[in-house]
Amino acid sequence: MAKQVKENHKNLSIKTSIMERRTFLKTSGAVAAGGILLNPTNVLGNTPMTGKKRIALVGAGIRGTGFWGKPVVEQYDDIVEFVGLCDINPGRLALAKKFMGIACNTYTDFDTMMRETKPEMLIVTTVDATHHEFIIKGLEYGAEVLTEKPLTTDESKCQQILDAEKRTGQKVRVGFNYRYGTLFSKLKEVLAEQRVGRITSVDFHWYLNTYHGADYFRRWHGLRDRSGTLLIHKASHHFDLLNWWIDSDPVEVNAYGKLEHYGKNNVFRGDKCRTCQYRSQCKFFFDITKDERLMQLYVENEKYDGYIRDNCLWRNEIDIFDKMAVQIKYANDVQVSYSLTTYSPYEGLTIAFNGMTGRVDSWQDLPWRDQEKVSQADRHTREMNQGKEAETSAYDEIIVSENFGKSEMIKVPFVRGGHGGGDRRLQDQIFRNPDMPDPLKHAAGLRDGAMAILIGVAARKSIDEARPIKIEELTSLKPHPTRIT
Ligand SMILES: NC(=O)c1ccc[n+]([C@@H]2O[C@H](COP(=O)([O-])OP(=O)(O)OC[C@H]3O[C@@H](n4cnc5c(N)ncnc54)[C@H](O)[C@@H]3O)[C@@H](O)[C@H]2O)c1
Repeated sequence: MAKQVKENHKNLSIKTSIMERRTFLKTSGAVAAGGILLNPTNVLGNTPMTGKKRIALVGAGIRGTGFWGKPVVEQYDDIVEFVGLCDINPGRLALAKKFMGIACNTYTDFDTMMRETKPEMLIVTTVDATHHEFIIKGLEYGAEVLTEKPLTTDESKCQQILDAEKRTGQKVRVGFNYRYGTLFSKLKEVLAEQRVGRITSVDFHWYLNTYHGADYFRRWHGLRDRSGTLLIHKASHHFDLLNWWIDSDPVEVNAYGKLEHYGKNNVFRGDKCRTCQYRSQCKFFFDITKDERLMQLYVENEKYDGYIRDNCLWRNEIDIFDKMAVQIKYANDVQVSYSLTTYSPYEGLTIAFNGMTGRVDSWQDLPWRDQEKVSQADRHTREMNQGKEAETSAYDEIIVSENFGKSEMIKVPFVRGGHGGGDRRLQDQIFRNPDMPDPLKHAAGLRDGAMAILIGVAARKSIDEARPIKIEELTSLKPHPTRIT
């Protein structure tokens, strides 16, 4: 039964994309035949009727509605309006409209939405492997496209997007919210000041815990043909940060990866957590019924598409890696050692930039460091507070150490919510003030989105083919010693 539902889900997605591709081919046939859609803005007449920017969104899941949907309505209602929402799941669509508190039309057919609503901007928040379909069509329909990371999941889809941007003259922007976090922005600033000389190598290690890390294996992220593996889905955030910090393009990638914790690597497996016979013995048991939002979004809409949110993370079909190690060589000769682990006892990261005259270290969420910060830096505050518990991690740390010299600790104000406060800054730059000064070049365009996923694609290929992969093997993009923005 469960297998059948899963099959239905898969078939539904495949059918939808085939149908959409057919419709798309018809549309792009018109482009080839008459050339009239080459400037589709004219054809669609994207004239704002209210003076507000007209936005459509495809992919009404948790990210689409919870990050781009509702907050954008709440924060920028004076300058933008949602004119259409699209999803293959009609139940999630109806919920999205209610959740966002808007009155626009909803669509299960993307082309109908684009033709009827004529948006100026399209936001793409569907399953990763489908992004390219909507990005390309969005551009062809004359909209500027804002896509969630990852840009896409393989090199051929990436090339199609690159070609479409060139052909249409419309722009793609990638929502790399991590760049905007306070710690990551400060690191960029410190590196730009060249305080430890020319950077020669970077050590970057990211740990996902047994809650967040495990969650990727419960749903579509666990399938390579949906997420492209975590080398794309998750690590594209990290690869983008590396490209941005190092300010150069990757040229070659060598990687190792294996699935040896989740998936088939367990002695038992059940249906979904809700009905699982092993719930009392499985340390990863997840009770979705306690989360009202997830129940409404997913469980109540399973009947439409069979998307199971609390799937068993021991499913045999899981075919992504759960540990990954990647070596990257950059065009400016920086070399990177990166790793991603998905079953750590805590969630955190360590990073170090080795320079010719010193080293920059930083980390986030390492439990022993947080303890120390309480006992050292905040001890006095705690004493003065007389029992009122002080904020334990009110700052992140960067240590700049000079060879044969001193070390300086830079304290960076810590913001827990919204990826270090970065989410709001990203949204402000996109919606409120697109022309605001951008001295650290936070805004990410198509080339940035492509370079980030191409490291992941190359790493996956390197693991599959047991050889180093050159970035220029993958698409028409040629790596540059200094990043082109
Ligand atoms: N930047 C970040 O920090 C961040 C965080 C979370 C998610 N994301 C990204 O956001 C996107 C959505 O993730 P999510 O967690 O919301 O997933 P989700 O599963 O909750 O939502 C995906 C939605 O897309 C819909 N969908 C799937 N295929 C479709 C198709 N062909 N046409 C129309 N709709 C389709 C699904 O029905 C679902 O409603 C992903 O690309 C993910 O990588 C980014």
